[in-house]
Amino acid sequence: MLNGSTLILYEASRYRCTGSTNPIQYRTRDDGSALSTSLRYNSRLRTAPHAVSNALLTSKQAAKAAMAGTCAHVEFLRAQPWWALALAAVGLLVAARAALRLALWLYAAFLRPGKPLRRRYGPWAVVTGATDGIGRAIAFRLAASGLSLVLVGRNPDKLAAVSEEIRAKHTRAEVRTFVLDFAGEGLAAGVDALRESIRGLDVGVLVNNAGVSYPYARYFHEVDEDLMRSLIRVNVEGVTRVTHAVLPGMVERKRGAIVNIGSGAASVVPSDPLYSVYAATKVR
Ligand SMILES: NC(=O)c1ccc[n+]([C@@H]2O[C@H](COP(=O)([O-])OP(=O)(O)OC[C@H]3O[C@@H](n4cnc5c(N)ncnc54)[C@H](OP(=O)(O)O)[C@@H]3O)[C@@H](O)[C@H]2O)c1
Repeated sequence: MLNGSTLILYEASRYRCTGSTNPIQYRTRDDGSALSTSLRYNSRLRTAPHAVSNALLTSKQAAKAAMAGTCAHVEFLRAQPWWALALAAVGLLVAARAALRLALWLYAAFLRPGKPLRRRYGPWAVVTGATDGIGRAIAFRLAASGLSLVLVGRNPDKLAAVSEEIRAKHTRAEVRTFVLDFAGEGLAAGVDALRESIRGLDVGVLVNNAGVSYPYARYFHEVDEDLMRSLIRVNVEGVTRVTHAVLPGMVERKRGAIVNIGSGAASVVPSDPLYSVYAATKVR
């Protein structure tokens, strides 16, 4: 080991980054503690600084070593052209912003405690497209949080089956169903009927989940009239009309939460060329 030997550090002159470095010589006792230091220049031992990393240094010595490293970085930066530093600064800001957004997303997705939905927003929730997939899962979660539900969907049999399952699992949840085909003719009248059916209910949460996409990827010019109409009706007009029906009650009660299910097609993939109409209808 290095006990009892001589260590060499390159120290920035008087701990300041002046550009010049002087070797500083440390002697250690057999137990590893510092015995003396001197600023003698010793060319014979100049090649020894790598030994420093293996040495037992006092905190003062370690601070000096850290300072020398910092100075080397400062000197490196000073040697760069201004435009390279400007680009590096922009890159640093972009990376910091992305890291912050990732950290916030991780917090919101995995760490943030849930809100007491019933107490905070009200006892009822309306979920559209609750007969399958994400909407169905959300309906179960809301029932587990103590909310009663109005499930909206186009298929009466599937609505009855889901509501039975929810009642069986969450016995305190009251579950009502409303049949509405968002893609069908008479959407405005259907949503008016929904507005009437929830009149008097304290609806605190609305989940606009019902949505359709392409049956398979295709370019914009290949999208047929029926698919285009269905996408716009379900994903845009349905969301707009249902929100318009539910929101006034929330405004009156001064509380409520509206969740519009979007899609990565509208945010992650720029304009998603093979699903362009779907992407356009999913901007939230
Ligand atoms: N799955 C994904 O990877 C993904 C990714 C991003 C965003 N999203 C969005 O998440 C939401 C749910 O997607 P999902 O994958 O769970 O879809 P899903 O399994 O196909 O379920 C869609 C739900 O919407 C209902 N629905 C469809 N067309 C309707 C209409 N014309 N009228 C009334 N209800 C209708 C369906 O009813 P039926 O049971 O009668 O079919 C079903 O309950 C959609 O808004 C979708 O755009 C999905």
